Amino acid sequence: MHVVAVGTIALFVPLSLYLLLVAETSSLHREAMREQADRIASHLVTTGGRWRLDLPKDMRDLYSEALGRYIYAVVGDDGTVLFSSRYAAQAIFPDAPFTSKPEFLQAEPPHSNISGTRIPRTEGDHTVYIEVAENLSHRDVLIDDIVSNFIPRVAWITLPILLLLLGVETHVVRRVFRPVQEASERARQISPRRTDIRLSLQDIPSEIAPLVVAVNEALDRLEQGFRVQREFTADAAHELRTPITILRTRIDTLVDDRVAEPLRRDLETMTRVVTQLLEMAEVENMALGDSERADLLAVAADVIAFLVPLAIAEGRSIALSGVEEPVWVAGHAEVIGRAFRNLIENAIRHTPAGTVVEVIVEADGTVHVCDEGPGIADAEREFLFRRFWRRDRKRSGGAGLGLSIVRRIMELSGGSVTVANRTDGGACFTLRFRVVPAAADQDGAAVVQAAERDDGAAPAS
Ligand SMILES: Nc1ncnc2c1ncn2[C@@H]1O[C@H](COP(=O)(O)OP(=O)(O)O)[C@@H](O)[C@H]1O
Ligand SMILES: [Mg+2]
Repeated sequence: MHVVAVGTIALFVPLSLYLLLVAETSSLHREAMREQADRIASHLVTTGGRWRLDLPKDMRDLYSEALGRYIYAVVGDDGTVLFSSRYAAQAIFPDAPFTSKPEFLQAEPPHSNISGTRIPRTEGDHTVYIEVAENLSHRDVLIDDIVSNFIPRVAWITLPILLLLLGVETHVVRRVFRPVQEASERARQISPRRTDIRLSLQDIPSEIAPLVVAVNEALDRLEQGFRVQREFTADAAHELRTPITILRTRIDTLVDDRVAEPLRRDLETMTRVVTQLLEMAEVENMALGDSERADLLAVAADVIAFLVPLAIAEGRSIALSGVEEPVWVAGHAEVIGRAFRNLIENAIRHTPAGTVVEVIVEADGTVHVCDEGPGIADAEREFLFRRFWRRDRKRSGGAGLGLSIVRRIMELSGGSVTVANRTDGGACFTLRFRVVPAAADQDGAAVVQAAERDDGAAPAS
């Protein structure tokens, strides 16, 4: 649209300038004619009923045959020529009827390039008409040239000027909209997981600022809505804990073990699901400070120490290998421990009795948890980390939340989780953390913000 507008202006401006120029020259011409007629009229006198015309020398020169540019004639109301600049002594506009007002006239063809004025002059009851005209073919060369050369020589300059304007405007618009572009980039990062992002108002054009403000306010409301929803999950899971505890006490009072044992197993599953729900809600609402760091080796050793009894009870074992020095990574130790625990618990459940779950900690901040179970089919890989996804609902001991908790924790820690199968079967989950310089002081580095719950929902690890 802008190019079309500039194109139209590029045509319109020179054209209207040309028309103005033509109008201006013709008005200059009329003014000059009128002035000359007035001057001739001022030299026209009557003495005893006879008209006399005494032109000064400069004026006679103006109307000389040699110059050939201006002519005059003083004509009586019967059409007879009283005085004239021409030897031929005839009226300049013989065919135009006399009127009592000054007029601008054009001679008839073939003298149509003669253009001028006729004014009446009355003395007593005698009226004469003073005609002055200019031969436009002898007109001032300068004016003529300007008019005739305007389009080819002068008018084209508007085109480059307008093109320059177009370029400048394009640049200005781009510049003005750069902050909007940046705001768009920021908006692209907003997701259910990143509801804290707000668009910056800095440098935003004032016409667009209300939109940015409105979007930010909408995001505030959405974030509030999300928080309410997450808190609901946490509250619901929390509320379930009391009835579960009561139920457990009731089951313990049952005398018949054949009834109590299956009930106890069901209750255990239920407890795990509720615990995972709480854990999920907790890591969902969590944000980690930038300065937090954890030693992967220490965390892995802790978690393994906690899980070894469980593994042994089920006829499996856990092996820790890899580095022997601390590996400092970004993240919160307790939270990272939960990711390890979820992966190792899964591995224990899937690896056959008598085999080993391998935990390998590497110096580059990578941790592998590998088992000798069935592994992960390619088709399952995309569902694996989804909430509530389980391969076998009967066999699974949890709600299918474990791996989504792991993924969320890795997100929080600025890392990633992937899964691959070993060549000899068995799944290998890989966690990649961001390695940070060794902690100068480890105390007080951990700050867990957001909706922290002090209900001790997370099992000690
Ligand atoms: N080490 C593993 N080997 C094979 N399959 C696994 C392994 N870990 C997890 N899975 C599969 O992924 C599913 C989801 O795991 P998870 O999110 O921990 O939920 P849950 O443990 O509650 O079933 C499990 O049901 C299981 O089918
Ligand atoms: Mg699990």
